Amino acid sequence: MKIAMPKERSPGENRVAASIEVIGKLINLGCDVVVESGAGDGASISDDAFKAAGASIAKDFAATVKDAGMIWKITAPNKTETAKLSRGQVVCASLGALIDPKAIEELSKSGVTAFAMELMPRISRAQSMDILSSQANLAGYKAVLNAAELYGRAMPMMMTAAGTVPPARAFVMGVGVAGLQAIATAKRLGAAVSATDVRPATKEQVASLGGKFLEVDPEMEKEAETEGGYAKEMPPEYFEKQKQKVREHLPKQDIVVTTALIPGRPAPKLITKDMVESMKNGSVIVDMAAEAGGNCELTKPGEVTTTKNGVIIDGRVNLPSMLAETASALFAKNLFNFVSPHFDKEKGTFVFKDDDATVEGTLVCKDGKIANERVSEALSNAGGSKKAPAKKADAKSETKDSKKGA
Ligand code: NAI
Repeated sequence: MKIAMPKERSPGENRVAASIEVIGKLINLGCDVVVESGAGDGASISDDAFKAAGASIAKDFAATVKDAGMIWKITAPNKTETAKLSRGQVVCASLGALIDPKAIEELSKSGVTAFAMELMPRISRAQSMDILSSQANLAGYKAVLNAAELYGRAMPMMMTAAGTVPPARAFVMGVGVAGLQAIATAKRLGAAVSATDVRPATKEQVASLGGKFLEVDPEMEKEAETEGGYAKEMPPEYFEKQKQKVREHLPKQDIVVTTALIPGRPAPKLITKDMVESMKNGSVIVDMAAEAGGNCELTKPGEVTTTKNGVIIDGRVNLPSMLAETASALFAKNLFNFVSPHFDKEKGTFVFKDDDATVEGTLVCKDGKIANERVSEALSNAGGSKKAPAKKADAKSETKDSKKGA
């Protein structure tokens, strides 16, 4: 069984779904690995390093995927790449299946079996396969480093002969995987950290990292979490209360990192224009929700801008790509942890069991058809053709969320 690891071609993508460690593991399993020449350039992994790990190097995408049983990618294959795939090949990548279900419909026409890794169910067993967690954790760390770089003052308290420097005040909005790592990183850099979230479970997590929790309405927050551990969209009354609290808090902050997301919905707007206007000159907002529209009204996705009152707003996207080597290593390990239990040693190939929750949750197309109910629903909402859905993609029967921190 040949596993292909092509070069990523989306603009700004430095990662590769490959690592030296994982190539070794695949070879040990009995697979052959082929990597596209230059695939590791953005992640500081040379063709020679891949070769030394046991992979062969192919000159372009077509040569890389030719005769491969499985293709590993970071992002979905583009149209030109899809045209080079053949029926029965397995694709594992972050496919954005619910954001762009029509692209999955297109992909399905090539007859490939595709797993959208971002749909991995949040069950204990799948934590090591969860690309959202591995990448969000790195993004939360990088967000704080970016903030520290843009912030024109020191972060930790310093008592020097020339005078005392007060610690920077950092405020984290949204305490999921990225938010927890942002809190931990800001603490390590010496900031005084506060945080808020709609999910009540996060209160203790913030405290355990040495942060202060900014509470909005504990009664309403009792209903804020879905069974899967995600936030629900909150009612307008909650947003009003939250805005009031945040409005009082923001003028005292130096660094704000926002990570608030609701799966499948635009990011909630937590920081309005007038709130930004109330902030100090030189303070920094890093909006990690920029890709989903942003948590701040003034965020320009993909850009760093400065307001008239001197607030720097960082809307850069794809932060994991800025830590390409680490992000690639964890991504590749997530894919390995997902596929390896399905390797059939006797047949020398992968046999994915349909009733496995991780397969059921992530399988989006097979044999030319959409194979995931959530994608079918998203497709009909987007006005696309609805094809016969396979079994419902959830994992209720399995051990529910042992929640994972950063
Ligand atoms: P996310 O990326 O969907 O959202 C980020 C954070 O924003 C969440 O904590 C959410 O509650 C918060 N948020 C949403 N709306 C908000 C608002 N209006 N105001 C303030 N905060 C708001 O969340 P993520 O990082 O995916 O984590 C969600 C949960 O899932 C966490 O408890 C995490 O530990 C858990 N998890 C479990 C896994 C597993 O068991 N396999 C794997 C990954 C995460």
